[in-house]
Amino acid sequence: MKESIENRSFIYDIPTKVYFGKNQLNNLGKELSVYGKKVLLCYGGGSIKKSGLYDRVISEIENAGLELFELGGIAPNPRIESVNAGADICKRENIDVLLAVGGGSVLDCTKYIGAGAFYDGDAWDILLEKVPVKKCLPVVTVLTLAATGSEMDASGVISNPDTKDKIGLIFPAMQPKVSFLDPTETFSVNKYQTACGCSDILSHIIESYFVPENESMYMLDRFKEGMMRTLINYAPVALAQPDNYEARANLMWTSSWAINGFTGSLQNCEWTCHPIEHELSAIYDITHGLGLAILTPKWMKYVLDEKTADRFYTYGVEVFGIDPSLSKMDVANKSIELTEDFLYNTLGLSSTLTEIKIDDKNFDVMAEKACCGDVLYGFKPLNKENIKEIFKMCL
Ligand code: NZQ
Ligand code: ZN
Repeated sequence: MKESIENRSFIYDIPTKVYFGKNQLNNLGKELSVYGKKVLLCYGGGSIKKSGLYDRVISEIENAGLELFELGGIAPNPRIESVNAGADICKRENIDVLLAVGGGSVLDCTKYIGAGAFYDGDAWDILLEKVPVKKCLPVVTVLTLAATGSEMDASGVISNPDTKDKIGLIFPAMQPKVSFLDPTETFSVNKYQTACGCSDILSHIIESYFVPENESMYMLDRFKEGMMRTLINYAPVALAQPDNYEARANLMWTSSWAINGFTGSLQNCEWTCHPIEHELSAIYDITHGLGLAILTPKWMKYVLDEKTADRFYTYGVEVFGIDPSLSKMDVANKSIELTEDFLYNTLGLSSTLTEIKIDDKNFDVMAEKACCGDVLYGFKPLNKENIKEIFKMCL
């Protein structure tokens, strides 16, 4: 392992300025003004109007003397249609800066609007990688849901209902310039979305924690274990007391650090549960975190063997405090049981596809697409047949 670290280098550069805490929104007008006068405000289905955040944002924009344009109605699992609509406004009105206010769906959509503003065709071409993203309008975000980490990463996931595709890509140009993270804005997130958000955060950490030994690093492993413990500790608090600041703050900052590039330093291997889940939300439009909750323990059971058990052992001992004197396999199996307990009992999420009325009809095509007809080279390489087996375990 030492030798492999010596042979790996990385650049760590997260050019997102974060304002964390209550009342930080007072700085919104000032930050937007850095990028110009014309602001396109992007938001979802109305939660920000109910919570009062919309009015707060508008007054910041008005007080700063900025010109406001709006694109509302961005759906969960955001559609390419919204990206194109936003990009059209940008081109028509010569927008200077984008302001995304919402959860990951709004943030992701806004990133591609910024990229689409510099492309004359259908923005789906960007997702199909027919055109590279070299430029993007500056994106400022106000996060309202702790989950995806979109507030501090350069990636975004867009769905195309016509082709039943859901594609996620990373373009450094889409990295938000500034993100406002006020935990009080997540007080209004309901139990289900809070649970799905926590499942998503956990999965982001698991994806980079369960990697071949030569892609791990002692310091990063301990950091990730600390984040998983934080999540397991505070998720039930946030569910029981939605306005518990300490819990919401811990979840919010964990969501950002789970996927901002830090945990994945030194790693080349692919994520596994995410590409598999994206096929579920592409076809069935389910919540991303729910799909991950159903899949993750089944994936764990599928990949556990004598060779992979060491990692499960460390996970079980360090994250769940399982007795280290038990056998490696006993700890590994117990760690999976405790993961299930967290996802299904503590978070209260469904444990099977059958429960959410999804059958095996599309398993073949979903498995094929998840590995792009090849192999997912993750913790344990998975081909199409392996992925189909995992889907079957989810029934
Ligand atoms: O649309 P509104 O009315 O705002 O309601 C939303 C939506 O219905 C609601 N909500 C958000 N903040 C709220 C709130 N309700 C009450 N109070 C608040 N403060 O929650 C619902 C879900 O919102 P959404 O943005 O879809 O959730 P999430 O943040 O989990 O985003 C999911 C999307 O992000 C992608 C997922 O695939 C999915 O499309 N991902 C993005 C990633 C990234 N950019 O790095 C990585 C992730 O792995 C993930 O794939
Ligand atoms: Zn995710």
